[in-house]
Amino acid sequence: MESSDGGGWRRMVMVLYVAVSMVGSGWCSKFDELVQPSWATDHVIYEGELLKLKLDNSSGAGFASKSKYLYGKVTAELKLVEGDSAGTVTAFYMSSDGLNHNEFDFEFLGNRTGEPYLVQTNLYINGVGDREQRMDLWFDPTADFHAYSILWNPRQVVFLVDDTPIRVFPNREDRGVAFPRDQAMGVYSSIWNADDWATEGGRVKTDWSHAPFVATFRGLRIDGCEWAPEAGGPVELRRCGGSGWGKEGRYWWKEKAMEALSVHQSHQLIWARANHLVYDYCNDPARFTTHPPECGK
Ligand SMILES: *[C@@H]1O[C@H](CO)[C@@H](O)[C@H](O)[C@H]1NC(C)=O
Repeated sequence: MESSDGGGWRRMVMVLYVAVSMVGSGWCSKFDELVQPSWATDHVIYEGELLKLKLDNSSGAGFASKSKYLYGKVTAELKLVEGDSAGTVTAFYMSSDGLNHNEFDFEFLGNRTGEPYLVQTNLYINGVGDREQRMDLWFDPTADFHAYSILWNPRQVVFLVDDTPIRVFPNREDRGVAFPRDQAMGVYSSIWNADDWATEGGRVKTDWSHAPFVATFRGLRIDGCEWAPEAGGPVELRRCGGSGWGKEGRYWWKEKAMEALSVHQSHQLIWARANHLVYDYCNDPARFTTHPPECGK
């Protein structure tokens, strides 16, 4: 009796242990399992749970994912440069390689102490960008960590801030608008000096007496179909683009519920745009002689 009870207890502990370590494999995965410094290694600083990117007058810094992905959702928990961040840009983005590349950008445009950071989003599709939108935020992004996510599936690309969608690029291939669907993308971040354009259109310059400028990451989560280059493009396109299960588990980011915003999310998007939108390329006829077709009427 006693020994079988003991075995039961050990099995129970084992099951609990496996369950806990599986939960841990998502949010808590170490940065260095997913990413590596991409430039200025000495400006990329690991501090326990945190990863810091540092900009000073010698260099900015960046990191890049070790793998590429076709569809998925990526999230970074990020605390932006405190105090005077004017002239600096911190970016969190996905990008493919090559001339006709695709890219989904979060660019955080710094500002003087007390003035609001702006979040610029942009999409490049087949090498063509010029799709900027700018928003301010409903919180101080330098005071604490907030989650910034990009969801990408065959129906839409969604930018989210703390799970609130701030921008949607729906698949409008039926109207002849190109949609990113056949290039695997890496996940990147960087900080650099952009005082030729970032703050008040470039009028406010970086004040190097306030360097170093530091952006801090606490968590990075990549749920996506990891692209295996050796398998060959057509094979991977089918595997990651098709429906069903893969070695990453169920491709939940492509499921029905992910194909469009929920009613609640649509309301959140309307709220965010109504209260925080600063600029939208869709409403800038001075810049575009022909109305961008993806913008609707
Ligand atoms: C910086 O602050 C000024 C003044 O509040 C504001 O007009 C501007 O949009 C802010 N952001 C940037 C990136 O210039």
